[in-house]
Amino acid sequence: MSKVLITSALPYINGIPHLGHMVGCLLPSDVYARYMRMMDNDVLYIVGTDEHGTTSEVGALKAGLDVQEYCDMNHKRHYNTYKDFGLSFDCFGRTSSEQNKEMTYHIFEQLDKNGFIEERTMKQVYSIDDKMFLADRYITGTCPHCGYEKARGDQCENCTKVLEPTDLIDAGSTISGSKNLEVRETKHLFLNLPKIEPILQQWLKTKEAFWPEVAYSIAQKWLKEGLQARCITRDLKWGFPVNKEGFEDKVFYVWFDAPIGYIGITKQWADEKPDERNWKDWWYDVKDVRHIEFMAKDNVPYHSITFPATLLGTKEPWTQVDYLKGVSYLTFEGGKFSKSENRGVFAEDAIKEFEADYWRYWLMSNIPEGSDTSFTFDLFASVVNKDLNGVLGNFVSRVLKMTSSKIGDTVPEGGQLGELEQKLIENLQLSIKNYFKYMNELEFRKAFAELRAIWVEGNNYISEAEPWTVIKEDQAKAAMILRTCINLIRIFAILSAPIMPKTAEKMLAKLGLGVDDIPSLKDFDVKKEIEFIKAGQPFEVGDMLFERILPERVEELKTKYGSKK
Ligand code: MF3
Ligand code: ZN
Repeated sequence: MSKVLITSALPYINGIPHLGHMVGCLLPSDVYARYMRMMDNDVLYIVGTDEHGTTSEVGALKAGLDVQEYCDMNHKRHYNTYKDFGLSFDCFGRTSSEQNKEMTYHIFEQLDKNGFIEERTMKQVYSIDDKMFLADRYITGTCPHCGYEKARGDQCENCTKVLEPTDLIDAGSTISGSKNLEVRETKHLFLNLPKIEPILQQWLKTKEAFWPEVAYSIAQKWLKEGLQARCITRDLKWGFPVNKEGFEDKVFYVWFDAPIGYIGITKQWADEKPDERNWKDWWYDVKDVRHIEFMAKDNVPYHSITFPATLLGTKEPWTQVDYLKGVSYLTFEGGKFSKSENRGVFAEDAIKEFEADYWRYWLMSNIPEGSDTSFTFDLFASVVNKDLNGVLGNFVSRVLKMTSSKIGDTVPEGGQLGELEQKLIENLQLSIKNYFKYMNELEFRKAFAELRAIWVEGNNYISEAEPWTVIKEDQAKAAMILRTCINLIRIFAILSAPIMPKTAEKMLAKLGLGVDDIPSLKDFDVKKEIEFIKAGQPFEVGDMLFERILPERVEELKTKYGSKK
């Protein structure tokens, strides 16, 4: 068994997750975790909320709560949403935990001891009207690099360049809108990235394989531009107070302790069962862990450069990323998701419209692995109707109904696999091999195109085998064909389980099986599996697996979610 550590970028606690967040890191990490477990790996899958920073302070202020209460409440809300989406994390933790504080303090101390922390007097933007220092995200203005007018003070989301707020042209506060800003001097701590760069470059050479396209181009661009020291402290209240003399009234910058959160959350997980679990088995001085990180592209620079450099600067043997799955953006009907403009589907609402598997399937088979992808209700309905209903759902109901009406409600007996079945097996062997290959490579679009092709094989088989004709002359052969089809239902359920866990469960339940009957995929042999279910096993036709989405419903959804203006 190999150990696979899977992390999803930790969503900001004050944000309301939309479909773009789901497909950017949360769903792919879950699908991959489920798949890796089915492949018999020892998986640890970590998610949680990213809680510090002014965004939380401002969110709490607006909600009339203190920050801790606000975070407690929102943490639960995130947790429930992700549970509804079927996320199978081992721990859903928090960056504000005691465990993460401990990790953050330790890592900071090591960096400081090794001379990678530097004190600087810094100019920071103070908003006279808001009566506070403005965190980078609360300042917008024009990006000096690309001219984008809504660049934030920490990063330009248009050109992905990392910014200091004072770089912005014509800056204003996003809290009050006021441009009555003033630059004040304060003392802060910086992570000296240029000094760590040689170690980083050396490390990067050993990790060539971890760069998929999206991540590679972003990180390389960053490196070419040259690294600069990053300020890791802030004049705020909500955060971990800096553990260094003279800086106790400041807190660590949210981005400093956020990725350390992966480790802190692992410790939260371990602390639940201290006799069985040890966070160090995953993070410290271990050689047998493969670490896969999932994130949207705006997170790539931090995870490919800053966070690895932070860990390297400790000169301790921390587990680093082995493969970084960076995902492009999902847009909504060609534009942005916006809660304030009531535009786009947010995860909490999505689940009220359709069960998670509809979304999981659409999102994962259309995941923006190359360029940005647009979600539209037309495409969504078409995929649900064609793939889920037409190809998969139809096959299942057709096979079970036909067997039930022509033969009875148990798996029929008689006959032996013939030439057509051999061909079916060969075709499936090839498709399944490709499916696994793409899953192993984290090429999800290709993987799920292959999964769909596997379902199509079933439809092709039954069309060619024509059990409805055969039954008139050869009862036993027709029984064998239908039995083979019933076995295909089980095989499809198993293979679909990573992307559509609930649907897989429903399919198996029709055959009197449970999720515990799902075999390991490691030595999955379709030749054996095609005869797994024997004659005599009772089954149930039950309901259709998916509902069809009719044009009226599509129009209704478009209006409700702001596709139309
Ligand atoms: N909260 C950040 C975002 O949503 C992601 C932080 S990832 C972490 O963009 F690992 F650093 F926490
Ligand atoms: Zn820019």
